Amino acid sequence: MECRVLSIQSHVVRGYVGNKSATFPLPFFKKNMLSFYFLSLCYAHWKGQVLTAEELNVLYEGIKLNKVTHYDYILTGYSRDTSFLEMVVDIIQELKKVNPSLVYVCDPVMGDHGAMYVPENLLPVYKDKVVPLADILTPNQFEAELLTGRKINTEEDAIEVMDLLHKMGPETVVLTSTDLPSKNGDQFLVALGSQKTKKPDGTNTNQKICMDIPKVDAVFVGTGDLFAAMLLAWTHHHPKDLKAACEKTVSVMHHVIKRTITYANEVAGPGNRPSPAQLELRMVQSKADIENPTIVVQAKVL
Ligand code: ATP
Ligand code: PLP
Ligand code: MG
Ligand code: NA
Ligand code: MG
Repeated sequence: MECRVLSIQSHVVRGYVGNKSATFPLPFFKKNMLSFYFLSLCYAHWKGQVLTAEELNVLYEGIKLNKVTHYDYILTGYSRDTSFLEMVVDIIQELKKVNPSLVYVCDPVMGDHGAMYVPENLLPVYKDKVVPLADILTPNQFEAELLTGRKINTEEDAIEVMDLLHKMGPETVVLTSTDLPSKNGDQFLVALGSQKTKKPDGTNTNQKICMDIPKVDAVFVGTGDLFAAMLLAWTHHHPKDLKAACEKTVSVMHHVIKRTITYANEVAGPGNRPSPAQLELRMVQSKADIENPTIVVQAKVL
């Protein structure tokens, strides 16, 4: 069965952030991809054209003219413009009318480790307009705190915040990374997830999970984007089993990151810290792991 994904994210000419981290790996899952180009960026330097809301609308009008308006998934990530985000909201609302079972996967990229790296006026747009439309939401700890106005200091706080996010709209929420201490020690980072589903008998059920992810001492770019794209793919395979979907997603991440750091250390040479260019995700080399990841991280059901 064909599965159509509309991914509205930035495009870069090298490396894997934004659409590149979705359009390369997602076709392995035999999905048709259709991508919007809106922003080009090379590492720390802001370069390239930024697509305006009006230009996005022109692309969308083209899609309508060509009658390709039926999608199974929409995926959005990094955006730094409120009018662009509002246009995205309009598009999602329209496409959800075309296909009421369309699943919107939203990575509400706003910041990390206590600081926002998009303009602050994006927060109310995410809170009031974007998140209510989302079916699957992948904030990091800081983004989840921004959206709910609650600080996360304990696992209980994280659970409460995920429940608050459910109340805002999405039935699947994954906190893709937190600073919570891992029971396995400081070499692990903690991610949590929560999924509300309807059982065949009509009653609601809620699966909550927690994962300890082995930490690698380096900063990667595009990992949040890849996480969201992989979660889309694996929730498609396991729509009512967040544990299975997350174990596969996080295992893909682990394989890609392991291959990337091994290569980066090798080219940097002994005693040197790899450069951002050397830390570019080894995506093509990870094709087999992306398609069929060996499970290396087990999720604990809470
Ligand atoms: P976003 O900013 O896109 O909303 P995020 O801040 O959670 O999301 P990342 O920090 O890239 O994005 O984390 C996403 C995933 O990438 C983690 O769940 C983990 O699997 C992997 N990851 C990222 N950095 C590391 C690292 N240094 N060591 C191990 N895994 C990592
Ligand atoms: N997209 C663009 C254009 C970016 O510059 C960045 C971060 O610098 C991201 C996405 C997000 O990167 P990550 O997936 O590591 O959160
Ligand atoms: Mg992060
Ligand atoms: Na995230
Ligand atoms: Mg990120």
